[in-house]
Amino acid sequence: MSETNLKDMQDLVSLCKRRGFIFQSSEIYGGLASCWDYGPLGIELKQNIKNSWWKAMTLRDDVVGVDASIFMHPTVWMASGHVEGFNDPMVDCKQCKSRFRADKIDLAKACPVCGSSGTFTEPRDFNLMFKTQMGPVEDSSAQVYLRPETAQGIFVNFLNVQQTMRKKLPFGISQIGKAFRNEITPGNFIFRTREFEQMEMQYFIKPGTQKDAMEMWKEIRWNWHVSNGIRPEHLRWHEHLGNDLAHYADAAFDIEYKYAMGWGEMEGIHSRTDFDLKRHEEFSKKNLKYLDAEDGNKKYLPYVLETSVGCDRCLLAVLSDAYRVENEGQGEAERVVMKFHPRLAPVKVAVLPLVKKEPVEVPARKLFEELQKKYPAEYDVSGSIGKRYRRQDEIGTPFCITFDFDSLEDNAVTIRDRDTMAQERVSLDRVQEYLDNKLKM
Ligand code: GAP
Repeated sequence: MSETNLKDMQDLVSLCKRRGFIFQSSEIYGGLASCWDYGPLGIELKQNIKNSWWKAMTLRDDVVGVDASIFMHPTVWMASGHVEGFNDPMVDCKQCKSRFRADKIDLAKACPVCGSSGTFTEPRDFNLMFKTQMGPVEDSSAQVYLRPETAQGIFVNFLNVQQTMRKKLPFGISQIGKAFRNEITPGNFIFRTREFEQMEMQYFIKPGTQKDAMEMWKEIRWNWHVSNGIRPEHLRWHEHLGNDLAHYADAAFDIEYKYAMGWGEMEGIHSRTDFDLKRHEEFSKKNLKYLDAEDGNKKYLPYVLETSVGCDRCLLAVLSDAYRVENEGQGEAERVVMKFHPRLAPVKVAVLPLVKKEPVEVPARKLFEELQKKYPAEYDVSGSIGKRYRRQDEIGTPFCITFDFDSLEDNAVTIRDRDTMAQERVSLDRVQEYLDNKLKM
């Protein structure tokens, strides 16, 4: 049996659409560029990824969670540096009016859209923050931004959390939420969009300990991706050095994933020093210093080690890594199977009565209803068993249970393993236990 990985992003886009993972936003109106809607299976998968992250990042003594609002006081974005510096250099083609990021194309070459030469405008800065108005009065005093990162909601709550939860350094604050960036060139499916979700954690530490914290979180974050089934050979580190390093960081590493279009950043781990808290002190005129009772009541601004992963980019990696084609080009023998880690699979088990006949259907339905109390499950009775298996393979269901005429005699069912396609006869009263063992998450 041969097995191939995802080679073309379009194959994944089409599977996501036909199986209910991801649809184009506002499709009946012709779609809205780079905006995507998660369908029933996509949202289950996304929720499973978020739950896995939340468990890993908050079920710890030293990390707590928050959920800050998307709108924040406009001064937050002056303090953070986003108003002044969250820009990408942009050029227009004077001929066809297409826009490009100046650092992503060769300006000496022809326009990639219309092929005209020498028609680019001079690069100019384009701020990526979306602006909107808050309240009924449309003047500049009511201008607010859609947050371009969730991190600032954590920084401004540093003292609230530290004091109410009586936390001592080092400790972290985690958050999952939407972020918005008016990207000049979004694309590659859900890789770069204008609305996306981030899963971020800021770990507040004593200045001088940032190297150790970096090592610790690099290891934890890498292992988390691997524990969710991403193959380590599809991951690599990218260290930011020199001009590549953001102005607020003294060290930064990305975890990159080998997407179908090439290696791309999935997660950033940044040593942000005390840049953010210092700027918020300066702009808010509030004292944000930490009182270190264990170090002679010294007062200082903590340093911050940040882990920041895009939920959608992580989901794209999970989808891409799970996608396999077995026996490609071999007609009937070919199958597309999403080999999700059972923890992430949107549906854990499917009950498939072999025939649509009452004596088989009634007990099969009963079994499904029992299993559904514990696991996201599907019941499917329409079409040939082969077609039903194919659908479950494509949505990555780890186990399919067939209920046949023999089941009425021997009180047993056949359980088929998604990955090996091996089938096992299991007595009805052991099905739950069988799944509990196999789906240990
Ligand atoms: N708070 C730090 C921060 O926001 P970032 O590197 O700009 O750092 C973190 O973003 C992560 O957010 C990225 O690694 C990526 O996974 C995700 N991300 C950023 N821009 C994105 C976009 N336009 N579409 C989808 N995900 C994006």
